[in-house]
Amino acid sequence: MKLIECARSIAKRDPAARSTAEVVLLYPGFKALFYYKYSSFFYRHKHFFIARYLSQKCSRKTGIEIHPGAKIGDNLFIDHGQGIVIGETAEIGNNCTIYHQVTLGGTGRQRHSKRHPTVGDNVLIGAGAKILGPVIIGNNTMIGAGSIVLDDVPENATVTGIKARIIKYEGKRVDCPSMTLDQTKLGDPLAQELCQIRMMIQKNEQRIKELENNDEDI
Ligand SMILES: CC(C)(COP(=O)(O)OP(=O)(O)OC[C@H]1O[C@@H](n2cnc3c(N)ncnc32)[C@H](O)[C@@H]1OP(=O)(O)O)[C@@H](O)C(=O)NCCC(=O)NCCS
Repeated sequence: MKLIECARSIAKRDPAARSTAEVVLLYPGFKALFYYKYSSFFYRHKHFFIARYLSQKCSRKTGIEIHPGAKIGDNLFIDHGQGIVIGETAEIGNNCTIYHQVTLGGTGRQRHSKRHPTVGDNVLIGAGAKILGPVIIGNNTMIGAGSIVLDDVPENATVTGIKARIIKYEGKRVDCPSMTLDQTKLGDPLAQELCQIRMMIQKNEQRIKELENNDEDI
């Protein structure tokens, strides 16, 4: 992870940033990456106490707790900071953006096993979103603010809600996932049934309107 390149990319991506210097000196997200670079170094060299000391110091200063064991790609932009938790076995790809109050959290208590999410490249994780467990978030996905993600998300999808469901796929609205998507990518039969019922209601409403219009014509 090259910190200066990361700062430049944050300055480009954040419409509020006036210069790279502002990012380096003032942004808590950048400070957190600075601490992470050193804490992960100590973690890799098995100096676990120093590694945790640095990550906890960072957490106190910025409100961003990145476990030194997490794996983070290039150009991560953590906007605002505060209330962010990135767990020990979490992995984040390149060019991702994370807003405040995001958790990449674990489920399960087994030590030395994968308990946290794997996030692909170019992923946006909206404010307050929680991604829990060893799920896989595909490249180029957007996780809506306030979502709770408990299942894998395919590439190029947008998900929102509790629990999160796909609302856009490859840039197109998904009104009824069961009719437009490969069903193996969605693990929620109840949501699919509800979608089908909604489609039926819409069709019937349209039919009733047409009949009413015909009556008026007669
Ligand atoms: C999820 C998100 C990426 C979708 O953006 P988009 O592709 O432009 O989607 P749209 O705005 O066209 O919304 C599509 C639908 O999803 C709904 N939606 C959008 N974001 C949502 C969210 N976070 N939770 C629930 N529903 C949401 C919209 O209301 C809309 O539904 P409707 O057509 O029934 O009214 C975006 O809304 C979001 O949450 N971004 C995070 C922003 C953030 O955290 N900012 C913090 C800055 S400090």
